[in-house]
Amino acid sequence: MQLAGVMGWPIAHSLSPRLHSFWLEALALRGAYLPLAVEPDKLEAATRGLAALGFRGANVTVPHKEAVMRYCDTIDDQAGRIGAVNTLIISEAGITGRNTDALGFIANLRAGAPEHSHTGSIAVVLGAGGAARAVAVALLDAGCAEIRVCNRSLERAQTLAENFGERVRPIPWASRSDALEGARLLVNTTSLGMTNQPALDIDLHPLPADALVSDIVYNPLMTDLLARAQARGLRVVDGLGMLLHQAAPGFAAWFGVEPVVDDALRAHVLAGLTP
Ligand code: ATR
Repeated sequence: MQLAGVMGWPIAHSLSPRLHSFWLEALALRGAYLPLAVEPDKLEAATRGLAALGFRGANVTVPHKEAVMRYCDTIDDQAGRIGAVNTLIISEAGITGRNTDALGFIANLRAGAPEHSHTGSIAVVLGAGGAARAVAVALLDAGCAEIRVCNRSLERAQTLAENFGERVRPIPWASRSDALEGARLLVNTTSLGMTNQPALDIDLHPLPADALVSDIVYNPLMTDLLARAQARGLRVVDGLGMLLHQAAPGFAAWFGVEPVVDDALRAHVLAGLTP
């Protein structure tokens, strides 16, 4: 029996067990993927205990993504740049920490808008938290020429720009609509627009007609931002796909089979969303 799971606190609402269990069943593998409720002060013991319990690895979620880096023997390039780990892979060499959020983000855009190229283009990223860091790394690696990071607290956007170099430009939150001028991509990584959160107030008119709009919020799936972009005739990609695609590299490493992200998986995970 091959074992994996997701460590978080709290963990009850994580969709990852539902997602990975779907793949395990569809592929008829002998394995299990478990929700692991790990209190912050137990993270070290839990992480070090995974190997002894026979786990091949685990996902790591809020609030452990940064703290778990201390207990990894190796950290991959993207995780190092993002400053967070969401996937642990256990081997004889020890614990490798990876971050698959950047891969998941770009794979979702490529699946949802295959003809859209990022090379040499301008992107606007709303937010400057952990999700924004993953999106920025993905877009830098995809060849974006300029990433405008707009955040309520400008200081956080400035820190992100300092970390990632001159292709990243910090923009005050008040200028978020003007920043859309000339952009080929707009991504919301803030919590605005999520069920029970305030709405995202932004004027989309400055966006060129060939721009793509994506939201990492997936509850609701069709956020107000995406609905307004679609009404303007812009191409949109919802956020659920990022969750699905970020899960695939971990699954492949633990269970030895490359899973597919298809409509059946999407429908299954969607049905597990609490409204
Ligand atoms: P994550 O790691 O998921 O990205 P986070 O670090 O809590 O989460 O970041 C949440 C993002 O949403 C931040 O960019 C935050 O802005 P601040 O850095 O200024 O806090 C943004 N955010 C949350 N509520 C907001 C609001 N009411 N208005 C504008 N931005 C908001």
